[in-house]
Formats: sequence, structure tokens, C-alpha cells
Amino acid sequence: MAQKGTATLNLGKGGESIELPILSGTMGPDVVDIRTLHAKSGMFTYDPGYLSTASSRSEITFINGAKGVLLYRGYPIEQLASQCDFTEVCFLLMNGELPSVDQKLAFDNAIKGHSMLHEQLVKFYTGFRRDAHPMAVMVGVVGALSAFYHEAMDISDASHRELSALRLIAKLPTIAAMAYKYSIGQPFVYPCNDLSYSENFLRMMFAVPTEEYTPNPVIVRALDRILILHADHEQNASTSTVRLAGSSGANPFACISAGIACLWGPAHGGANEACLNMLEEIGDVSRIDEYIERAKDKDDSYRLMGFGHRVYKNFDPRANLMRETCHEVLNELGLQNDPLFKLALELERIALEDEYFISKKLYPNVDYYSGIVQRALGIPTIMFTAIFAMARTVGWVAQWSEMISDPEYRIGRPRQLYTGATLRDVPSDR
Ligand code: CMC
Repeated sequence: MAQKGTATLNLGKGGESIELPILSGTMGPDVVDIRTLHAKSGMFTYDPGYLSTASSRSEITFINGAKGVLLYRGYPIEQLASQCDFTEVCFLLMNGELPSVDQKLAFDNAIKGHSMLHEQLVKFYTGFRRDAHPMAVMVGVVGALSAFYHEAMDISDASHRELSALRLIAKLPTIAAMAYKYSIGQPFVYPCNDLSYSENFLRMMFAVPTEEYTPNPVIVRALDRILILHADHEQNASTSTVRLAGSSGANPFACISAGIACLWGPAHGGANEACLNMLEEIGDVSRIDEYIERAKDKDDSYRLMGFGHRVYKNFDPRANLMRETCHEVLNELGLQNDPLFKLALELERIALEDEYFISKKLYPNVDYYSGIVQRALGIPTIMFTAIFAMARTVGWVAQWSEMISDPEYRIGRPRQLYTGATLRDVPSDR
């Protein structure tokens, strides 16, 4: 991070102005360092939704929204998605470099060594209603991990942080699959160390004690790609939630639980589930226009789920990759004529030609296709966001650990523009 001159801010009070440093990263827009603004001027900045605010510095993920670029530690997402598996990407996000063969083996073994849940934690599940949403279960069970690992909760110790990160990455698939098994009344399937990360998750989801389960390699590869594409996305809402929760010194399990809660919202990770529900509600190509008109109506809050992105304004590179996977999976599984997929393609075509969507730069995002792929893989809609959480856990822990080890880190404490009542007295006759 280098200083590159100063910006002069005219405060409009009789020509008074102040100088603020301009900082440059290695790529992307420069930032005006406003940390001294309040001390120098008594003013705050106002930026609801953080449209112009860099909340932190980070070396992990880079996005260029105008050009549709997404890099993890400098590597293009397209190359990672086609040449690496998910645990290699996890290693990269956490450590900054791709693993050597030995490092990859050691990392995979470390993950496998932490994939089981404490048996007392397994009993937690029976406290939930059968029809509980898997994300509700995930928020609760991941938060409850805090109660089991007191011996490694010193967040200032890098080895404790690494152990917590491994535990979270390893246990999330087990927690998610158990939430599903509980909801359908089937016995839990414990992790199996002979399998890869994605194979293991599929087995925990779909195996039953009465039959062997052999994962289809096409399905395994598609799931691995979903996990890679969702692994990190710089300072999105859930990652910012994890950072803010962690900034107080809260333990990592509580922070990731907060991230899962944020991810659940339909504007964020909940969009894949909402998108599939939308396609099912539309039901037929003949009704697409009606829904497009609703999405365009200023007096209707309805939005097309899976369209639009705060950062990507031309295309979402993850969506291109997911679209490719979508075609591969549907062809491989003989589902090319699936009516929902045909409906999705037609909705995409109509929206992309519509002046409203063109002028507002609203394109299908990754979640538009990830829902369709997951459905083809046999994953129930209610599990889509839980799988997103499983993938994003590595991004959350990498960002959390980076924040804790940054000497500039301080508790996150935004200020406000107060618009309430001015000072007044409680009436004396009360
Ligand atoms: N359908 C119809 N209109 C839309 C949509 C949509 N999906 N998204 C944005 N708009 C309109 C919005 O009404 C607004 O119009 P106007 O300028 O007339 O007020 C304009 O486009 C800008 O929208 P915004 O809400 O100010 O944009 P934002 O950057 O704050 O929101 C978003 C980004 C992703 C929350 C939003 O596009 C959205 O709600 N999309 C649907 C949900 C979705 O697919 N979310 C998944 C995001 S990708 C996965 C992830 O990273 O979590």
C-alpha cells in the first residue's frame, strides 16, 4: 500500500480545505484515506450500503466489475475452476500460494482429520423442528461449535486461528448434510476419509445404511466447481459481517455463524434458492413477460432473482463458468429438455434483450445458474444456500484471519448522520 499524493477536500466553510492522503493498492481504484477527516474537520462521511467505501485492505481476492475479472490471490477464477480442486483453492485462499503435491496431501489429511462432529453436538439436531430451514440449523450449530474448542480460542495465536479455520472448513459439509438428513428423517451419515471433499459431502447427503452410494464423477466435478466459484468474493455483505463481528475479538465460530446468518438473505446467498422458487412460480414460458413487467414496475418491489450485481456491471465471470457447467451437467444427465432449464434460458434471453435490464446493466449472476445445476445434481432447493455457506466458509476464515493479523486492525465502529428528535424534556405531568 503506497501513498500517491493527496486529495484536497474543500469543506465549503469560507474556502477552508484539508489535505487527505491518496493510497494505491497493487490493482484497482485508489482510495482517499479519510481516517483523519473527523479529527481535522469534525465531519464524518456518509455512505449507506458502502457504495464508495473500502472497508479494509486485503490481499486475498480482486474483482474488476467493469471487466468481469475475479482473481483469488492473483489467479483468474477461470483457471482455478478448470485446473484445481476445491481444497487446493482453500489452501490458496488461506496461505496465499497454491499447494505443492506434499502440501496438498497434508492439507487434505488435516481437513479429513477434523470432519467429524463431537457426538454431543450431533445431539443438538434433535432440538430443532423437523421442518427447520437448513440455514437456521447451520446458524445454530456453527455458533455452538464455540462451546467445544476452548483450548484453541486465542485469536491472537496464529496456530489457534489456523486450527479453527481447518475445523470450520472440515465440519461445514458434515453440519450441512446432517441438517438435510434430519429434515427428511434419515439417519446421519458420518464422513468417510477415503473420499474427496465433494465426494464425501455427496455421500453424507445421499447415502443410506441400506445401500452403497457411488458418487457420479460428473456430479462431483460440478459440485467442486460450485464450491470454487463461491469460495470468496472480497468484501461482500457476509464477509463484511464476519469481519465486523470478528473485529470485537469474538471467536471464529461465532463470527462464521454471523456470516451464515447474513448470507441467508435473498439479496445475497439466498438468491439461488429464491431464483429456483421464482422459476417454479413462473412455471411456463408463456408467463415470462408478466414477471418481467413486474420486475420493471417502479411501484412493485418484485425483482428477478439471480439478476444484477453490486460490482459486476457487464457480466459475472462466475456466471459464465456456471452456465458452462449447467450445460455440461444437463447434457451428461440427459436433462437437456428439462422444462425448468428451458424456461430459465428463455427468461435469460428475454431479459438480456430488454431495454430496462440493458440500461441498468442487470445480467444473470452466478446464482441464476447455480440453482439449476444443483437441482440437476439432485440437491433439494432448501439446501442451496447451505452449500453456498459451505463454500464461502474458507473465504470468511481467510478474511477473518487476515484482519486479525493486520496491524491496522481496530474494532469496526461506524458513525451516523443523526436525523431524530433534538434535545427535549419528558413532560413533567407524566
Ligand atoms: N430485478 C429488477 N430490477 C433490479 C434487479 C433485479 N434483479 N436488481 C436491481 N434492479 C434495479 C433496482 O430496482 C434499481 O432500479 P432504480 O435505479 O430504478 O431504483 C437498480 O436496478 C439498481 O439496483 P440496486 O438495488 O440499487 O443495486 P444494488 O447494487 O444495491 O443491488 C443486488 C444488487 C444483487 C442486491 C440486486 O441486483 C438484487 O436484488 N438482485 C436480485 C437478488 C440476487 O440475485 N442476488 C444475488 C447476488 S450474486 C450472489 C452474491 O454475491 O450474493
